[in-house]
Amino acid sequence: MYTQSFNVPDGGTPTLQAVPAPVDADLQARFDAVIDADGKIEPRDWMPDAYRKTLVRQISQHAHSEIVGMLPEGNWISRAPSLKRKTILVAKVQDEGGHGLYLYSAAETLGTSRDQMFDALHSGRAKYSSIFNYPTLTWADVGVIGWLVDGAAIMNQIPLCRCSYGPYARAMIRVCKEESFHQRQGYEALLTMMQGTPEQKAMVQDAVNRWWWKCLAMFGPPDTDSPNSVQGMRWGIKRISNDDLRQKFVDATVPQAEVLGVTLPDPDLKWNAERGHHDFGAIDWDEFWQVVNGNGPCNQERLATRVKAWEDGAWVREAALAHARKQEQRARQEAA
Ligand code: 3HC
Repeated sequence: MYTQSFNVPDGGTPTLQAVPAPVDADLQARFDAVIDADGKIEPRDWMPDAYRKTLVRQISQHAHSEIVGMLPEGNWISRAPSLKRKTILVAKVQDEGGHGLYLYSAAETLGTSRDQMFDALHSGRAKYSSIFNYPTLTWADVGVIGWLVDGAAIMNQIPLCRCSYGPYARAMIRVCKEESFHQRQGYEALLTMMQGTPEQKAMVQDAVNRWWWKCLAMFGPPDTDSPNSVQGMRWGIKRISNDDLRQKFVDATVPQAEVLGVTLPDPDLKWNAERGHHDFGAIDWDEFWQVVNGNGPCNQERLATRVKAWEDGAWVREAALAHARKQEQRARQEAA
């Protein structure tokens, strides 16, 4: 889908090295011109170190979110209420794993290795989305994750399809198509439950009550407290601010909640005709930072599960490497 290559030394090819390297100011000016023209930066292009670092930070955090995000719903695969729901859930969780892999590949084009990224995740140094540190207590949580969590993820990710870094932007196009299926399957599962028994309806309302505020926090701190936003916007990595995306999500979700027949747990939520948007209540940012800093209800469990999966998979990686080495050896022998 996109090139995996990144700037590597020319290995002494004299014709390539004969061209004098432009001075840094020229490179910077060229980079700025591409950004100003809303163009794409590709892996072989020169880019400022800070741009590269920001992308590695954001894309690797995003990749980690996708693979840690498999866990809360993965817990329900063996308990799905029907074969149809189980098949859908297996496909969805597998999609999230695939998203993680596209994103790790996109980050690798910036010169970081997958081992470095996994090490950062497994040692607890790397961030991943706060939302995946909450438990999935009932089957309704699986529907609500599809509707609200994936709905919030899409709202944030559609603008990333226009990100200035080519490999990230192209990966996001496919991710968003799949996320849109995830959102719809969640909403459809909830619609079915809302036509069911009073217990099922109560289960949906309870799940909405528990996830709503966490989904609003998912968009990140308010713009005034977001250290990376200004530069991210200048570079065309971020296209819409945390607060604006949060507002778009609230405005889009209120009518969906009405159709579903659930109440969003916010007494301050109301249409503001003057602003042309819904007003909503205050988010608990202390709780958000507690979770981001490793102290949420499931942080330890999520990390331990990832580390165990990595350790349990060691023999598969070793076997794949041994097989690749054998094939390479055979190809060399045949060529000799
Ligand atoms: N959870 C954890 N950390 C968060 C966060 C969240 N919900 N929101 C923000 N943060 C962190 C940032 O990573 C940053 O930390 P750092 O400087 O140490 O890296 C800090 O809080 C300050 O936030 P900023 O607003 O300054 O950071 P950004 O400009 O990077 O914006 C972002 C945050 C909007 C999450 C942006 O990084 C982004 O758009 N990332 C890509 C999308 C993404 O990662 N989504 C995660 C969910 S993926 C998902 O839900 C999968 C789906 O399939 C279910």
